[in-house]
Amino acid sequence: MRFDIVTLFPEMLRGPFAASIVSRAVDRGIAEIELHDLRQWGHGKHRKVDDAPFGGGAGMVMQPEPLFAAVESIPGQAEARTVLLTPQGRLLTQAVVDELAAVPHLLLLCGHYEGVDERVREHLADDEISIGDYVLSGGEPAAIVLVDAIVRRLPGALGSEASLDEESHTGGLLEYPQYTRPAEYRGWPIPDILLSGHHKDVQTWRRRQSLLRTARRRPDLLRAALASDGAVSDADRRWLEEELETKLEEL
Ligand SMILES: C[S@@+](CC[C@H](N)C(=O)[O-])C[C@H]1O[C@@H](n2cnc3c(N)ncnc32)[C@H](O)[C@@H]1O
Repeated sequence: MRFDIVTLFPEMLRGPFAASIVSRAVDRGIAEIELHDLRQWGHGKHRKVDDAPFGGGAGMVMQPEPLFAAVESIPGQAEARTVLLTPQGRLLTQAVVDELAAVPHLLLLCGHYEGVDERVREHLADDEISIGDYVLSGGEPAAIVLVDAIVRRLPGALGSEASLDEESHTGGLLEYPQYTRPAEYRGWPIPDILLSGHHKDVQTWRRRQSLLRTARRRPDLLRAALASDGAVSDADRRWLEEELETKLEEL
């Protein structure tokens, strides 16, 4: 999968992409990431890319010409999906990550200052993504989040593909609690079931912990899982209602 990222601050992205899973995926040829410094397409001696907003107001707005020129210089851009990172975009969820992971070529536009000229949104971007309901100073941290979340979904990027299936959000629920050695730490033992060696019982315990955790921490996710076909079985539902001593409709 190829990512082209247009940014005023390529140095903000180099470090995060040079470590861990993303860097390994790049080394293995699973992902290709190209950074494009927007200043290259700026005007004049100072490579200006922004100007004051028409109509007045605080801050500067990124001009359309440098962004259009940068995108139009990228090989294969006509077939790529151009994504504007903006707090006004579709909220990034695991479902959106999975959708984007199926696109072979993403072109990410990072805004800065007061944001970008509206014509970029209207005529250059195919999609707009927000990583959360808060405002960042620039699109770069959002690009890091998006690339990381997508790359770990690409086949071969993680050591164990199985770990993807059980992760939080993948099946609509939060993951069960995880423990590792030592079996007792500062007097806090791990649940006995994990030492039992009974694979099936461990699976049941994990499933139930996952349901319970989601019900307590993210009832919104549990409601969505209940509404989606087959995500929560009748047996799961009965167990959970007994454990919580309440009807799930009342959560
Ligand atoms: C200070 S913000 C501009 C916010 C803009 N004035 C508004 O109110 O919508 C500067 C840039 O940061 C990026 N950004 C800020 N928050 C973001 C978020 N939650 N998700 C994705 N990108 C974000 C966008 O690229 C944006 O153009």
